[in-house]
Amino acid sequence: MKKILVIESLNLDMVTNVDHMPAVGETILCPSMQLIPGGKGANQACAAASLGADTTILGAVGADSYAELLKESLCRAGADVSHLIVRPDQNTGVALITVNRDGDNSIVVVSGANAAIHPEDIEKNRPLLEACDMVVLQMEIPLETVLYSARLAKQLGKTVLLDPAPVPKVFPKELLQYVDILKPNETELSMLTGIDITDKDTGESHLEEAAAWVHSHGCPHLVVTLGEKGVYLHSDVDGTPENCRIPARKVHAVDTTAAGDTFTGYFVACMAAGRPEEECLDLASRAAAIAVSRPGAAPSIPTMDEVQRCTLRRGE
Ligand code: ATP
Ligand code: RIB
Repeated sequence: MKKILVIESLNLDMVTNVDHMPAVGETILCPSMQLIPGGKGANQACAAASLGADTTILGAVGADSYAELLKESLCRAGADVSHLIVRPDQNTGVALITVNRDGDNSIVVVSGANAAIHPEDIEKNRPLLEACDMVVLQMEIPLETVLYSARLAKQLGKTVLLDPAPVPKVFPKELLQYVDILKPNETELSMLTGIDITDKDTGESHLEEAAAWVHSHGCPHLVVTLGEKGVYLHSDVDGTPENCRIPARKVHAVDTTAAGDTFTGYFVACMAAGRPEEECLDLASRAAAIAVSRPGAAPSIPTMDEVQRCTLRRGE
């Protein structure tokens, strides 16, 4: 089994469930708030470990009770948390999440310790990068740290997956030459490429054009999650482009938080296990659909057993 190293954020999610998102200037009442383990890095590490992959997370937390909740959740999933950096001068990251009755969310991340992981920390942990096979990165930690990690991982010959979320105001295109698999959602891909992925007037898809843009910047594989429309894969390793599209499973959406993270963690873990690409996409889609049908981030991630028993049908 290959080793996966996730270098990213850990957040304690503070979740409120409301009928509708508050408009600018509007105040709405909500009976309760839940504290739920989350953060893109932690969610992806939980998902990969849930599938049984050898998964380590490298990130920073504060010396507080939120960090303990996050560690417990990661350990329960089977991830190695022994390399987490504790910053006593910082709070553990927090995400303020509002979920509406359709299961859609809006999120504000208070970075805290996530903003205090620097290239020197990655360098100090070079043996971790040397020992792993795949490095998974997102963008809730400083951009210079993401860039440093991707460059080093590439130099060491590791497979690098980047989930470019949230897309920074200025995305350094150089980063793409260190990335083997780019995994945006539709909005993120549009922000990166400047291409409207779905034409608003005609409904025509510009996925192939966007994929060509990504490839021209040095990244050979693109996996685009398209919410309830499923997932699109484009690969071009030796000048022969290949595409495939898999419909999403049909499910009642309760809370889409961490759908993309569940997908990424499962996809990476399946790849690490050497499963064929289409099987990786299918398992990851099933896992993500289950996560969408449940509330919260990390607790919504299914076990491999649950994914294998999943009888949700594919949509059209
Ligand atoms: P998030 O930021 O909410 O975690 P995302 O925007 O990164 O998610 P999406 O493209 O919305 O990612 O969803 C990821 C995957 O989850 C999809 O490719 C699909 O397989 C599954 N999924 C998401 N929404 C639905 C849905 N309503 N029904 C079924 N599957 C879904
Ligand atoms: O992708 C979902 C995650 O984004 C949440 O768990 C929240 O912490 C934010 O980082």
